[in-house]
Amino acid sequence: MTAAFPSHTAAFAPGRVNLIGEHTDYNDGLALPFAIDEGVHVSATATGEVTIHARALDLDESDSYALGGEAPSPGGWRDFVRGVTAELAAAGLPVRGAALEIHGTIPRGAGLSSSAALEVSLALALLALADADVVPPWPLARICSRVENDWVGAQTGLLDQLASLCGREHTAMRIDFRSGVIEPVPLQLGEWRLVTLDSGVGHSHAQSGYNGRRRECAQACEQLGISSLRELEPAMLERLPPPLDARARHVFEENARVDAAVDALARGDLAELGRLLERSHASLRDLYEVSVPEVNATVARALDAGAAGARMMGGGFGGQVLALMPPGTPAPAGALEVRPGAGARVLER
Ligand code: GLA
Repeated sequence: MTAAFPSHTAAFAPGRVNLIGEHTDYNDGLALPFAIDEGVHVSATATGEVTIHARALDLDESDSYALGGEAPSPGGWRDFVRGVTAELAAAGLPVRGAALEIHGTIPRGAGLSSSAALEVSLALALLALADADVVPPWPLARICSRVENDWVGAQTGLLDQLASLCGREHTAMRIDFRSGVIEPVPLQLGEWRLVTLDSGVGHSHAQSGYNGRRRECAQACEQLGISSLRELEPAMLERLPPPLDARARHVFEENARVDAAVDALARGDLAELGRLLERSHASLRDLYEVSVPEVNATVARALDAGAAGARMMGGGFGGQVLALMPPGTPAPAGALEVRPGAGARVLER
């Protein structure tokens, strides 16, 4: 008897906001993201062929290729689709020929993880179409992140994919990238609001200084003889030459800020959360050096408008700024309010 495969599936995966804990994920550190309502929708219809026909509805572009014959494209969204089918198969998961339709509501390259949302949504729709067993968040995040690493050329960590997969309404998540533990952290903002502001500078992790920062962290570990910067002790910093000492110090202090933010949220001390956002930004700007003048100007604009704290968000070198607005303080023009939404899900199978 042959299995009764679905003929059509659909999935949705959200983008994410990272409250605090930046450039810590690939250092076995801590982060505090949440999934947002905006994301990427993928529908998959079985074709009975061994090919993928994909359409990016927002761009009015398409791509067709044979499963098993994936090759990198000249760049853009096609690499994500080709990478997802190739990496699912490489992980021993079933992939069926399909016509895919992709539609997104997150601005691309804005630092809200449109790429992770695309990978996760594609993976969920394709796995549902093959009637595959549910793949747990960590292994699925790793498969999706291999698409970024090996198909797109960005040596990113697992923050974005995990946030997209594990999102919950009204809840941020404290992710410990060393132990693998993901703890829900209620995000009760009352009359306070979190908003994102576009710096106007797009970014691409494959082309920015992101991979260079990751290399510097690996060099720092090598020089100290530790396996990750999570093992760093402050006394070790003086054994590192610049700029490795500054990079390592950022990671060490940013991990501590994640736990300070979790404590501040538990106490309902949102003014303290704002101060932590500011310190995180100063560290990303001065120690990790991943901010750019336009992003710093956007942070200043948010603070001038009365934000209790604001910082660059994501990999850096452009993208969005996150700002915390106190009760009764209007957000600056063009700001988008963000709140924690549900994680990635199969919508039809
Ligand atoms: C990007 C990457 C993540 C993470 C952040 C920085 O969003 O995709 O893995 O490294 O930058 O915190």
